[in-house]
Amino acid sequence: MENTPAIEIHNLTASYERKPVLWEIDCAFPQGKLIGIVGPNGSGKTTLLKNIMGLMRPDSGYIKIFGEKLDKVRHRVSYVPQRESVDWDFPADVMDVVLMGRYKPNKLFHRLSKEDHEIAVEALSRVNMLEFANRHISQLSGGQQQRVFIARSLAQQADLYLMDEPFVGVDAASEDAILKLLTEMKNNGKTVVIVHHDLQTAYEYFDYIALLNTRLVACGEAQDVFTSDLLQEAYGGRLTVLSRIGELIAKKEFPVREKGQEEL
Ligand SMILES: Nc1ncnc2c1ncn2[C@@H]1O[C@H](COP(=O)(O)OP(=O)(O)OP(=O)(O)O)[C@@H](O)[C@H]1O
Ligand SMILES: [Mg+2]
Repeated sequence: MENTPAIEIHNLTASYERKPVLWEIDCAFPQGKLIGIVGPNGSGKTTLLKNIMGLMRPDSGYIKIFGEKLDKVRHRVSYVPQRESVDWDFPADVMDVVLMGRYKPNKLFHRLSKEDHEIAVEALSRVNMLEFANRHISQLSGGQQQRVFIARSLAQQADLYLMDEPFVGVDAASEDAILKLLTEMKNNGKTVVIVHHDLQTAYEYFDYIALLNTRLVACGEAQDVFTSDLLQEAYGGRLTVLSRIGELIAKKEFPVREKGQEEL
C-alpha cells in the first residue's frame, strides 16, 4: 500500500548500559521521499538506525516497516552503516563487497548468477567506481569507500534505503553525484533515509526531516521542521551558527555549501 508509512516508530526508548540515548520517539516516515535524520553529535541518529535495522533491542516501543515487522520485509531494506564502524581489514575487493548486496539472508549458500554480476557492475558504474572493481577495499580513499558501500546498497535493489552519514569524507563533486543518485532513486519510488549532520545542506537536500536530540524535537516536511525555534531546541546554545541559518531560512537563499566551514 502506497499510503502505509515506510517506517513507523512507536514510543521508542533505547539505552546503552541503562543510559537512555533515545527517549520516547514517535514518528512516521512516508514512502517515496528523501528523508533526513538530523541532530548534533551524540543525539542518537546512528542508534535510531540500529533500532530500525533490529541491531539493538529497545527498552520499550516498536518499529514497523511497510506496516510489518522487520523480519517480514528485511529483503526490501538496505542499510549503509557509518563508515568508521566498518572493518577495513576484511579480505575483499570492491566487486566482492558489492556482490555481498546480492546474497539473500535466508539463502546462505545461494550461488551468484550472471544477473547478480550484471547488477553489481551496474551499481558500481552508477557510483563511478567500476574501474576500481578489483582493488582491495582498504586501498581506497574514504570517499571511494563510501561510494562502494552505496553501490552494495544499490545492488540489493531494496525499496527502503537507510544510510548513515553517506556524505562524510566525500568531496563536493561526489556529494553532488551521490545526491543526484539518491534523488533518482526517490523518483523511482524508493524511500531513502539519510543520517546527516550538516544543517545547511539538510534543508536543501531533504523533503522530510526528523530533528533529533535524544528526544524527537520535530518530524515533518523540511520547511516545517527548519524553524529557528525547533533548531534552537535541537542544537541548544550554539547560537552563532544557528542565527546565521535562521537568517538564511528567512531570506530563503540557501547558498551553495562551502566546504571546511564549522560543523555542528
Ligand atoms: N556502543 C555504545 N555503548 C555505549 N554508549 C554508546 C554506544 N554507542 C553510542 N553510544 C552513546 O549513545 C549516544 C548516541 O550515539 P549515536 O552514535 O547514536 O549518536 P549520533 O547522533 O549518531 O552521533 P554522531 O553524529 O557522532 O554520529 C552518544 O552519547 C554515544 O556516546
Ligand atoms: Mg552517528
